[in-house]
Amino acid sequence: MINIPKGTKDMLPAESYKWQAVERIAERVAGMYNVKKIRTPVFESADLYLRSIGDSTDIVNKEMYLFTDKGGRNMALRPEGTAGVMRSFIENNLGETLPLKLFYIESLYRYEQPQAGRYREHHQFGAEFFGSELPEFEIELLCMARDFLSEIGFRDLNLHINTIGCAECRAKYNAALRAFLHEHEAEICGDCKRRAQTNPLRALDCKVDKCKALYKSAPRIADYLCDGCKAHHAAVLSGLEQCGIAYECDENLVRGLDYYTRTVFEFCDGKLAVLGGGRYDSLCEQLGGKHMPCVGFGCGIERLIAAADARGIALDKPLPNVFVAATNGAREREEARRLVFELRRAGVSAECDLMGKSLKAQFKYADKQGFMFVATVGESELDSGSYALKRMRDGHAETISRDNFAKDASELVNAERQGGRHA
Ligand code: HAM
Repeated sequence: MINIPKGTKDMLPAESYKWQAVERIAERVAGMYNVKKIRTPVFESADLYLRSIGDSTDIVNKEMYLFTDKGGRNMALRPEGTAGVMRSFIENNLGETLPLKLFYIESLYRYEQPQAGRYREHHQFGAEFFGSELPEFEIELLCMARDFLSEIGFRDLNLHINTIGCAECRAKYNAALRAFLHEHEAEICGDCKRRAQTNPLRALDCKVDKCKALYKSAPRIADYLCDGCKAHHAAVLSGLEQCGIAYECDENLVRGLDYYTRTVFEFCDGKLAVLGGGRYDSLCEQLGGKHMPCVGFGCGIERLIAAADARGIALDKPLPNVFVAATNGAREREEARRLVFELRRAGVSAECDLMGKSLKAQFKYADKQGFMFVATVGESELDSGSYALKRMRDGHAETISRDNFAKDASELVNAERQGGRHA
């Protein structure tokens, strides 16, 4: 037997309704903010990611799925969504009317050590907004993230927020941090020694306890911010307060990708980030486009569903509506098929037996599948021209005539849906 690759997961039929509910809510909330959908390829030139995510990050250093295609080109499976969207933005000249707000729901590939909440294939609902330097841009994006999370049913995910300044303040801060790391070289882990050379900011994200303890006394970015970055950050925070979004300032939040400028944030479930993002004002120029201020987020759908499950948040589970059971005669089965097509045409989801099951076994199947109603077609029903429609939750039955079957069944189904018992 060939097994599924390590660190990947099938989406099985018993769980797929959760994914469908999340995607429906994502699309609905995006629609409320006039955010348009984009889809980019699952593989791109490896260079795109090297130039955007940064060559001192774990993603680029250790986690990319790289391959050479038959034409000898160096390609990569997309490890994150922002770079591909930016490539498309530049290539298709999408910035004629600004702001431009885009979203995507896509799979991503990182060769990570598999563990709870960390997969080699995961999925994100992501949003990327192009065009504005104003703090309103972050506020709009974070309101959309908040609305999405609260429509799913979350009330308690903590928003951690920080600013990592612009290129100028970060250059000064990096120099101070590098000096601090050199001073404490004997105490820090091997990775941080390397980070001190390549990208000191990364050290603040270190998970090793002794490094974490030491960095409490490291220089603080807040002391190196220019007036513009300070004012921008203060305006973002006051905008969040006006919108009723609670937040926690976290000076060690630096994120794992190098393209960010100024604001970075994460909505966390305990230690795991469910949704993360920030501002990235230089990426467009870095990839050959013009100056283009941007903000964006990515929300991990696997982590989101696990966090919802852990809290007992029930995601919408639409149930099939009417099963038309039939005794085993050819006329009865044919009539059942006809009724099913009429129901479907009337917008009612319906099914009849396809396996030659006994009437009893058909009822058992309908019950297991969660059908709201079951109608039975037997010889006497054919003769009388009316059918009993049994409500499965309490066994209550109504007789409806053949002539009005689809219309009456549809009304009963709608009443049941509005009763809030079924999605
Ligand atoms: P990221 O923080 O690398 O950011 O990923 C965003 C979210 O995807 C994480 O908060 C997490 O929920 C989920 N995630 C990441 N890696 C994994 C994994 N191995 N297994 C399961 N879930 C995972 C980005 O990808 C940026 N592109 C976000 C962004 C968009 N920034 C600006 N625009």
